Amino acid sequence: MNEILILYYSRYGATAEMAHIIARGIETHAQCQARIRTVPPVSSVCEASADDIPADGPPYATLEDLHDCAALVLGSPTRFGNMAAALKYFIDSSSSLWLSGALAGKPAAAFTSTASLHGGQETTLLSMMLPLLHHGMLIMGLPYTETGLLTTTSGGTPYGPSHVAGSDNKHTLTDEERQLCTALGKRMANLVARLA
Ligand SMILES: Cc1cc2nc3c(=O)[nH]c(=O)nc-3n(C[C@H](O)[C@H](O)[C@H](O)COP(=O)(O)O)c2cc1C
Repeated sequence: MNEILILYYSRYGATAEMAHIIARGIETHAQCQARIRTVPPVSSVCEASADDIPADGPPYATLEDLHDCAALVLGSPTRFGNMAAALKYFIDSSSSLWLSGALAGKPAAAFTSTASLHGGQETTLLSMMLPLLHHGMLIMGLPYTETGLLTTTSGGTPYGPSHVAGSDNKHTLTDEERQLCTALGKRMANLVARLA
């Protein structure tokens, strides 16, 4: 069985919901399963520390999760047009994997959620890809044969799935946003199975 790591941070739940839809897309493939992991929040108070086990949701990711995965799907809310610090903090701890080249040649993709339509989805997705490229990962997006990319009036980009949650975070995922999450999961699973 090929394990695809879905590693995300989510404060209000939108990115978490996308992660679970992508996982279902991955698990439509008989030879692939999703491993969902998150990261703890970071604090401006340096003494603060989180419990080892989150109060709810998936376990926190370890470097072993990254090392062992067949592929990585990285999700973050958009924060000022960039990924959330909590996720970046975890990625910044991955130098040992960079030194050994452990992630080189593995496929990777990104997804995000924003409050507003033009609030920086593409910049966030592209910036999430930068450290993955430094690791030598093979970046995968979504092709326009996914017709949701043409019809969406909300989220959904060729750089990866996205969601517009609204300023109150209350918008549910649209049909196209869901379809594109599922499509990314399926596409990643097909690629991983072909590489295996
Ligand atoms: C510090 C901070 C910065 C944010 N920056 C942006 C932004 O640049 N563009 C945007 O559209 N939304 C921005 N947001 C809103 C979040 O991206 C949005 O609420 C997202 O859907 C949250 O995802 P989550 O439910 O997974 O936490 C920001 C939120 C916070 C707390």
